[in-house]
Amino acid sequence: MTRCDQTVAWRALQGHYEAHGRELDLRDAFTRDPGRFAALSLQAPEVFADLSKNRWDLFTRKLLIELAHECGVPARRDAMFAGEPINITEGRAVLHTALRAPRGAAPHSDEVHAVLDAMLGFAERMRDTARSGVRDVVNIGIGGSDLGPQMAVPALDAFAARDIACHFVSNVDGHDITPVLRRLKPESTLFVVASKTFTTQETMANAEVARQWFVDQGGRDVARHFVAVTTNLEAAAAFGISTTFGFWDWVGGRYSMWSAIGLPIAIAIGEANFRALLAGAHVMDRHFAEAPLESNLPAQLGLLDVWYRNFHRFTSRSVAPYHQGLRRLPAYLQQLEMESNGKGVDLDGHSLPYGTSPVVWGEPGTNGQHAFFQMLHQGTDVIPVEFVAVRGPAHPHAGLHRKALANCLAQSQALMLGKTALQARGDKVPSASAALAADTLARHRTFAGNRPSTTLVLDALTPRSLGALIALYEHRVFTSGAVWGINSFDQWGVELGKALCNELLPRFDSVETRGLDASTAGLLSRLRG
Ligand code: F6P
Repeated sequence: MTRCDQTVAWRALQGHYEAHGRELDLRDAFTRDPGRFAALSLQAPEVFADLSKNRWDLFTRKLLIELAHECGVPARRDAMFAGEPINITEGRAVLHTALRAPRGAAPHSDEVHAVLDAMLGFAERMRDTARSGVRDVVNIGIGGSDLGPQMAVPALDAFAARDIACHFVSNVDGHDITPVLRRLKPESTLFVVASKTFTTQETMANAEVARQWFVDQGGRDVARHFVAVTTNLEAAAAFGISTTFGFWDWVGGRYSMWSAIGLPIAIAIGEANFRALLAGAHVMDRHFAEAPLESNLPAQLGLLDVWYRNFHRFTSRSVAPYHQGLRRLPAYLQQLEMESNGKGVDLDGHSLPYGTSPVVWGEPGTNGQHAFFQMLHQGTDVIPVEFVAVRGPAHPHAGLHRKALANCLAQSQALMLGKTALQARGDKVPSASAALAADTLARHRTFAGNRPSTTLVLDALTPRSLGALIALYEHRVFTSGAVWGINSFDQWGVELGKALCNELLPRFDSVETRGLDASTAGLLSRLRG
């Protein structure tokens, strides 16, 4: 396959960027074309997207779609769905889509549905709290074995059992698990040890602390209070866990919330709602697999990411969900996007001369407005923002919800419209220093505007719409990764730090600093207790 920067479409995009893209002014674009919103917004299953406040136009989109075809994105997508080993560095298929496909509709269906049925049956038994006695569920896992459930459980709080609380312990820093354990009673606690490999340092260390705490607190029957979700059933058995839900090496950690890794979600929201979450993801899978690229939302978001990263050279994207339930969405997306596409070589291992994953970061609105939005509006870098708005709230406070939505709209409007110095001069500003010249003040109060944003809209935040939203993000990351010609499904970049940590660990018990650089040796001396 031709590398993206060697394609005809890439050259055309470069020319288009120089001629029209760099200078495209959103305000002019809307004035020139009253149909811009309709032309550049899309309804996908469960998710509406307004892409019109982005610095592109229909011609840019056309060229980007040509780029996707030249880079073989549809063929690569089909290969993923078919179970071909597209994760070439690990020789694995990439089949998280099979986890949410109806029975018989995707590869590995029998094993997927057997584990799903068993996991959901177990979740329902735990939800029968009068019988199970379970009041607290503690998920011990990290990365993909943590972030999905940690994001989805609060997002779906409106659907959650009220008599069970879910807790999440991920960090090897003991300040994570200590306050969680403080609130628990062993007889009413279920620990879920979630680890694809069952070798991850953080998870194993926390699981051991939890087991010791359980025994020390007089807990009886470890086997009844600890369950495991893993592909490494032997290691779970060696830990003393007999209830185990498996998954497979063709499910990447950051794509695993649809597998038994979703157990805490299933315990929180129940079988029917968990199945609705899977169904929502599946309808987005079908959309991605079947819709032409002209109306394919994940593909268009991924292509827009390429346009921004490689032509506008924007290096980050901020995510602003205007729904407090989605407070962990930015963290979830950080792993999804940056662990997938934070790669510097192509499939043959050759260094890339162009940028790949942007930095993905954010906070829920309106909190972010009172923290970093200053920089988004007036800072020296242009950072595209992605707003997520939910039309119908799951609470009775209509006034609060209207304010949240008005803020969301106001922010994308302000980013785009900006404010000229002339407009600023017309403002009355009682808080301004009287000693400051009016022109100087107006310059401080000017907004350049023309700052791009996307707004995603859900009718309501339900298991089905959340499933669709997350699958949308997965396929968007797939699309940009496929254009860049990288392997979005390995994560070798996390290995070096893990190996060096294992070498450093014994040095905390000795005075040995030989072989270390002076900085690490100096810091080790300071940190050693
Ligand atoms: O951080 C690296 C990583 O391998 C992630 O990809 C993964 O989600 C996480 O560690 C946890 O791994 P495991 O589920 O095997 O404990």
